[in-house]
Amino acid sequence: MSDQILTSPKMEKYLNIIDNMYRLGWDERNGGNISVLVDEEEIEEYLEGGRHYLRDIPLPLVADPILRDRVFFFTGTGKYFRNTKADPKNNVGVIRISEDGKVAHLLWGFEDGGKFTSEIYAHLMCHAQRLKIDPHHHVVMHCHPTNLLIMSHLVPNDDKEFTLNLWRAMTEDIIVFPEGVGVLPWMLCGNNEIGVATAEKMKKVRCVIWGLHGIYGAGSDLDEAFGLIETAEKAAQLYLGYSSRKEINTITNDNLREIIKGFHLEDVVRWEFLDE
Ligand code: 13P
Ligand code: ZN
Repeated sequence: MSDQILTSPKMEKYLNIIDNMYRLGWDERNGGNISVLVDEEEIEEYLEGGRHYLRDIPLPLVADPILRDRVFFFTGTGKYFRNTKADPKNNVGVIRISEDGKVAHLLWGFEDGGKFTSEIYAHLMCHAQRLKIDPHHHVVMHCHPTNLLIMSHLVPNDDKEFTLNLWRAMTEDIIVFPEGVGVLPWMLCGNNEIGVATAEKMKKVRCVIWGLHGIYGAGSDLDEAFGLIETAEKAAQLYLGYSSRKEINTITNDNLREIIKGFHLEDVVRWEFLDE
């Protein structure tokens, strides 16, 4: 199998992002998973046509028609982000979803017999959902950022309350995620139910908190999804720094309205979160 794909800018970016996420402490052990919908023209010269399959891996769900015959990078189940950049062949795979949506054709990677993340349900369902809203969508990213996780122990599982606490942490948070975040209560992970619930939230937001577990971020590219998660994570860190102390200066709803106006967010912001 040719390893030319490793020289593609897309794969280089993917591996660097994975490495960064490990170093930020968001992906202990095998925690976290990332999938990227790859535009065919970005990889065709690196994958010799992209129709030579190493093996077929059955999908545990039938992929939405919008995902069929599309190519994805996936991190492997049980694989450590810490090891991925140094050993991508065993830790990530390039797959094409079959025409009937039931199988992942393996184009490259997962060399030790591995397969895509156990969170395949949430990944495929979120890709399908976001693509229906945003034709530029490409990335679904899951990880376990420390401060957001602590916050999910302390703040009710409520989209409005969680979002306001993040928006008020720093002036520019509302600019990065004007649609707010969605919050799911604790649920068992790695199954259809949490996939459906996450994708349902993704009808309105790109960022979904899995209570007591982690976060899902979606974006048009790796930088967008990463930037969204790092902004939310920093907001959570700030929130935890002052929330148990006597806060004497705060970002008010009027301040948030001024930011909305100043940055022309009127059409994308979740106004209902500002109702008192
Ligand atoms: P995988 O190793 O199957 O990707 O699972 C990691 C994880 O974070 C599950 O939520
Ligand atoms: Zn997880």
